[in-house]
Amino acid sequence: MDKPRLLNLPKILDSRGNLSFIEEEKHFDFKIKRVYLISDVPGGEIRGGHAFKEQKEVIICLSGSFDVITVSKEETQRYSLNRSYYGLYIPNMIWRNMENFSTNAVALVIASTYFNENDYIRNINEYLSF
Ligand code: TYD
Repeated sequence: MDKPRLLNLPKILDSRGNLSFIEEEKHFDFKIKRVYLISDVPGGEIRGGHAFKEQKEVIICLSGSFDVITVSKEETQRYSLNRSYYGLYIPNMIWRNMENFSTNAVALVIASTYFNENDYIRNINEYLSF
């Protein structure tokens, strides 16, 4: 799992409502240290413009929609997330940002590390020169 990858999570269809789940080391290759949420993003704002030296993550769109742009030396990809049964796996050392948030969009980020500012690479030129 050395490239961004869209994970198609299990979906249990039920007339009472659908259910999806995600399990560490089964759907992705790391142990969960932290989960955080991004919500109430004003129209036009861009979040998450950085890469992580160590952190791997899975981003899920719980509600609404947004795009995740991933950049590596090899390729740039845009993932439009608008279903809660998809998880975007992003390994460490991939630049990514999140944009085009709809009203009421909620992002859930499952992360492999505790928060550590020293793990961030916030300058894309620095990232590309690594
Ligand atoms: P940051 O990751 O820089 O946001 P974005 O990627 O959208 O630009 O985080 C914004 C602020 O929140 C920053 O001051 C660090 C803080 N923060 C925590 O304290 N804990 C966390 O788990 C996260 C993700 C951020």
